[in-house]
Amino acid sequence: MNSEDIINKTKAFVKETLSGAEGGHDWFHIQRVFNNALLIAKNEPVDLFIVSLGALLHDIADSKFHNGDETIGPKVAREFLFNHNVDSVVIEHVVNIIENISFKGGNIEQEFKSPELDVIQDADRLDAIGAIGIARTFNYGGFKNRQLYNPDIAPNLNMTKEAYKASTAPTINHFYEKLLLLKDRMNTKTGKRLATERHEFMELYLKQFFNEWNGKV
Ligand code: ADP
Ligand code: NI
Repeated sequence: MNSEDIINKTKAFVKETLSGAEGGHDWFHIQRVFNNALLIAKNEPVDLFIVSLGALLHDIADSKFHNGDETIGPKVAREFLFNHNVDSVVIEHVVNIIENISFKGGNIEQEFKSPELDVIQDADRLDAIGAIGIARTFNYGGFKNRQLYNPDIAPNLNMTKEAYKASTAPTINHFYEKLLLLKDRMNTKTGKRLATERHEFMELYLKQFFNEWNGKV
């Protein structure tokens, strides 16, 4: 099988595996991340096969939806790629990408770095901010039966990885705990540029949200 065939098989596998997924982590999230990763990759010295496979498989079994198990995503991806005779060096790189792409709270350092991970991480972060980011965040909050906002529960800006994962805070808090931090954490020049506009849109959105909440017109 050539690279294009493997990418097409991977797309079909991901689409099938994520059918019925929460709306913010479904096939369309993967498709947007895949497209943005290829866009960003145009200006970066990266292996496009690794960027493609990493983007397609990065949320194949997100621990949030698998009882907190962080090993299942890498395992599913490794098995799939092995069964399609993908080179072992490529498999290890893709698995490292899946293990290290996630935001784990404001102060946590990631262990593995590569230009391909930088590109995919930027594409994933772009999908977490702006209009789509807002929609995904409230959808996830609804999925978890969270409050929209609670003036008595302040955002926690210094969470450990465990506290971040265990948080049941209102959805608006997530903007301060993660989404508004992403703009300054983009890895690539293209990523930074695209993030700026989306960030400004979220700030405008929050201003309007609090004006409406407080009865200002
Ligand atoms: P990452 O891609 O860094 O692993 P996640 O999968 O945890 O990030 O989150 C992806 C998106 O899911 C977030 O940007 C947000 O839209 C939604 N989400 C995740 N956790 C929460 C939360 N605690 N409250 C609201 N939305 C969340
Ligand atoms: Ni993702």
